[in-house]
Amino acid sequence: MTAPESHLLPVYAPPEQVFVRGEGCWIWDEKGDRYLDCIAGIAVNALGHAPPVLQKALNEQAGKLWHTSNMFKIAGQSTLADKYTRDSFADVVFFTNSGTEAIEGCLKTVRKFHSANSQPERIDIIGFAGSFHGRSYAAINAAGNPSYVEGFGPRLPGFLQAQFGDIESVKALVNKDTFAGIIIEPVQGEGGVREAAPEFLKALRALCDEHGALLIFDEVQSGAGRTGKMWAHEWSGVTPDVMAVAKGVGGGFPMGAFLATREAAKGMVKGVHGTTFGGNPLAMAVGNAAYDELSAPGFLDRVNAIANHFGQALEGVKDRHPDLVVEVRGKGLLRGLKLKIDPKEVQGKLRDHHKVLAGVAGDNVLRFAPPLIIDEAQISQAIDAIDAVLTSYVTQANG
Ligand SMILES: Cc1ncc(COP(=O)(O)O)c(C=O)c1O
Repeated sequence: MTAPESHLLPVYAPPEQVFVRGEGCWIWDEKGDRYLDCIAGIAVNALGHAPPVLQKALNEQAGKLWHTSNMFKIAGQSTLADKYTRDSFADVVFFTNSGTEAIEGCLKTVRKFHSANSQPERIDIIGFAGSFHGRSYAAINAAGNPSYVEGFGPRLPGFLQAQFGDIESVKALVNKDTFAGIIIEPVQGEGGVREAAPEFLKALRALCDEHGALLIFDEVQSGAGRTGKMWAHEWSGVTPDVMAVAKGVGGGFPMGAFLATREAAKGMVKGVHGTTFGGNPLAMAVGNAAYDELSAPGFLDRVNAIANHFGQALEGVKDRHPDLVVEVRGKGLLRGLKLKIDPKEVQGKLRDHHKVLAGVAGDNVLRFAPPLIIDEAQISQAIDAIDAVLTSYVTQANG
């Protein structure tokens, strides 16, 4: 019997498992098989699956009010904006439904800043090869990945790409008359789990300051405690002017935000931007509860301790399999193993033979972004599974 034709747009090719339930770092498929989730919906389920504290917030709000649109004040928005700004460089926040929308808002904020300064010709935003900022037309142009822009018509003007980590390649793209800003992920996710060196971020900050341009950090993947600080850029001591966040900030509920200094956001005045669903009451209830957990005393200390343990364990994997593992990458609980073999195949074996879920990233990397609440026993289980899969390649080669 042939399978019925799917009516889903075939832009994804998921494996056969259908997951129906989750709890903490565990997730069950419809056959009742249990998997250890070491990717968390790509850095989303920061507090694990169905955390009681978020369930409570969502259920309570679901019984009260779901939607009014931003034509009315939405309870929870100003509370959450107060928390985000209390703990960051930012003065103002705009809530979105996704990371891509947060990026879109950052790009618009930067261009509008120059326009408000009577320099509307300053439109150039320099991004980096290997970056990922989402799938809207502006986001794919900002990242410039050929496989994401091809076939979608002309490239948008004013988006340039330099080499990640190479300040001279950035300087070479600066035209002082049209330079508007720089967009960078402090830790590249999709591009191969690559951490930007603090000196590089400092040099980007200095370049922006020198030219009156704005620095955007895309913390959609690296933020919300993922690297052991609330925002990954805190490790470098460099602050941006504008920042996009999403994924982990909602703990699994779709939401994001862009944050800015009041000065950088000077052009974002009444009527120039908006959203129907962004910052809706359900998202704000969950977002507030998630942020309270992430910022609770001791939470990030625990993330750092477990992340160090995970990092060392991955170094152990590399040492045991020097013929297959090139390097351990990333920061905190956003980690990658750059492999000499196909990471997709390793990912499939981990899932189907060992019931461990991992991700992949560019540059031949096997990616891990487990819930931030993962424990040592679960990490040992994941490491044993990775060891077993990599050993099977050696056995195959020898056999
Ligand atoms: C760094 C980064 N920016 C932006 C996005 C886009 O976010 P979303 O898929 O929520 O639109 C992603 C998603 O993977 C991301 O990793």
